[in-house]
Amino acid sequence: MKDFYITTPIYYVNDKPHIGHAYTTVLADVIHRYNKLIGNNSFFLTGLDEHGLKVQQSADLKNISPQEHCDKMAPEFIKLWDKLGIQFTDFIRTTESRHIEVVQHILTKVNESGDIYFDEYEGLYSVSEERFITEKEFESGNFREVKKIKEKNYFFKMSKYQQKLIQAIKSDELKILPQTRKNEVLGFLENQELNDLCISRPKSRLNWGIEIPFDKDYVTYVWFDALINYISSIKFSKEEDFFYHRWPADIHLIGKDILTTHAVYWPTMLMSLGLPLPGSIFAHGWWLTDQEKMSKSLGNVINPLSLIDKYGPDSVRYFLMREMVLGQDANFSEELFIKRYNADLANDLGNLVSRVTKLISKFYDSKIPKFVNQDSILKEKYSNILLENRIKNFEIHTLLKEVTDFIQSINIFLEENVPWKQAKSDLELAGDTLYHSIEAIRVSTKILEPVMPRKCMEILQILSSEDLGLDWGSLQPETLIREQVVVFPRIVD
Ligand code: ME8
Ligand code: MG
Repeated sequence: MKDFYITTPIYYVNDKPHIGHAYTTVLADVIHRYNKLIGNNSFFLTGLDEHGLKVQQSADLKNISPQEHCDKMAPEFIKLWDKLGIQFTDFIRTTESRHIEVVQHILTKVNESGDIYFDEYEGLYSVSEERFITEKEFESGNFREVKKIKEKNYFFKMSKYQQKLIQAIKSDELKILPQTRKNEVLGFLENQELNDLCISRPKSRLNWGIEIPFDKDYVTYVWFDALINYISSIKFSKEEDFFYHRWPADIHLIGKDILTTHAVYWPTMLMSLGLPLPGSIFAHGWWLTDQEKMSKSLGNVINPLSLIDKYGPDSVRYFLMREMVLGQDANFSEELFIKRYNADLANDLGNLVSRVTKLISKFYDSKIPKFVNQDSILKEKYSNILLENRIKNFEIHTLLKEVTDFIQSINIFLEENVPWKQAKSDLELAGDTLYHSIEAIRVSTKILEPVMPRKCMEILQILSSEDLGLDWGSLQPETLIREQVVVFPRIVD
C-alpha cells in the first residue's frame, strides 16, 4: 500500500523561524504521528526554500554569499525542529543537487512538450511574496515591496489548464480545505482568465537560482523551483518505485498566504507533467499578534525558542494545536498561553494523574485495583471518540477538544463516585471507580501522545503502560504504578 505522505511549505531562509512556521511544522508532525498510531506508514517532508530575491537580499545585507547565508540559517531551523520533537522523514534544501537535478529535468521536459515560450513582460512584482501580482491585487494594498519590472522571460502555459483545474477542484479530485478556501480559489478561477506563469529571471537581475537548462542567461523563478521539492524529495524521475510509493501526497499543509501558488501553479505544473494531483491542500489560518499577521517582514514575531526554554516543548506543541481552530486565525499571547496551560494541563490532566495515582498508592499499595463492572460511563464516552475518522479528515483540533472534554468527564466521574470515601467502606467498589478512572487517563494520554510525546510518555511510565495500545481495558489490574512526579507544574504568573 502507498505510504501516507504529508508536507509542510519549505520555509524561506531570509530569517529565523517564528511561531507561525512552528505551527505548520508541529501540525504536520502531529498528523504524521497520528497516522503512525493508527498503523499507517507515513512519510513526512519539510525543508527550506533557499533561492530567490528575498534570500539574496538577506545575504547581501550581511555581506556574505547566498550559499553561506543558507548554510548559516539551515541549522537554526533544524535546531528548532529538534527541540520541538519534530520527526520529519526527510528534510530538503533547494540548493541540494538532488533537487536541482529534478528541477532541470522538469524544465527540459515541460519545454519539450511545448508548454514553455519566451516573451517580453511588464508587470508588478512583490518581493515579499516573490511573485508577480495583478493591478487589482496591487490596489488591495496587501502587498509589500512592489516593483515594476519589464523584461524578457520564459513563460509556462498555465492558462491552458484553467478549465481542467476548475474541474479537478470542483470534483474534489484535488480537495481544497477548508471549504471557504475552496470557494475562494474557485471564485478566482471562474471569474478571470488565468495568466501564463513567468518562470525565469534574467541572471543580470537575479542570479541566485537554478539555471534554466536551455538558456544559461536565466535562472528558474523561485516558486517554480520550490514547489518541485514535493516530488524531488521522493526521487521523481530517478526511482519510480520509491516515487509512486509516496506520490500523490495525501496533504500539502500550508498557510493561507500561499494558497494561490499551491492551488493554481502547482497542479497545473503537475498536469503538464502528466502526474496525479495531490489528494488535498489544507490552508490554515494565521497567528496574529494584536490582530496583525505575525510576519518576519513586519517584525512582530514570537520566537518559539524562548517559549520552549521557558515552558518546555510539549506545552508549546499543545498550545498551538489546541488554541487555533483549524482553518481560522488565532491570537498569540503569552497570557493566553499560560491560561491554557494552567487550565488544561496543570489543573485538568496533571491534577487528575496525581489525584488518582495517590489514591491507588494509599489504598491499593500502588497496584492497579480490579474492576467489578466491565462497563462505565467513561468507557462509553471513550467509544464515542472516533479517532480514525478524525485523523483521516485532519480534524486534529476537534479531536483535541473531544479528548479534553473526556478528561473533564473523568474529574466529574471522580466527584460523583468519591472513591476516597468509598474506599473506607467498600474497597471493591472504590477499586472499580479507580480502575475506570485510571484506564480513562491512560487512553486519553495515549491519544494525546502525538501532540505531547515526551510528557505523555512520562505519564505512561508512571502507569507502567508505555507499551499498551488504544483499546479500552488493556491496563491490567495488579500492575504496579511508579512513583508520581508533578508532570505539569502550575505556572505562577
Ligand atoms: O512562503 N501564522 O515561505 P515562508 C501561521 N518559501 N502560519 C504562518 C505564519 C503566521 N503568522 N507565518 C508563516 C514561503 N507561517 C515559501 C513556501 S512551499 C513550496 C514555499 C507559515 O517562510 C505558514 O505555513 O514565507 C506559511 O504558509 C509559511 O509559514 C510561509 O513561510
Ligand atoms: Mg511568507
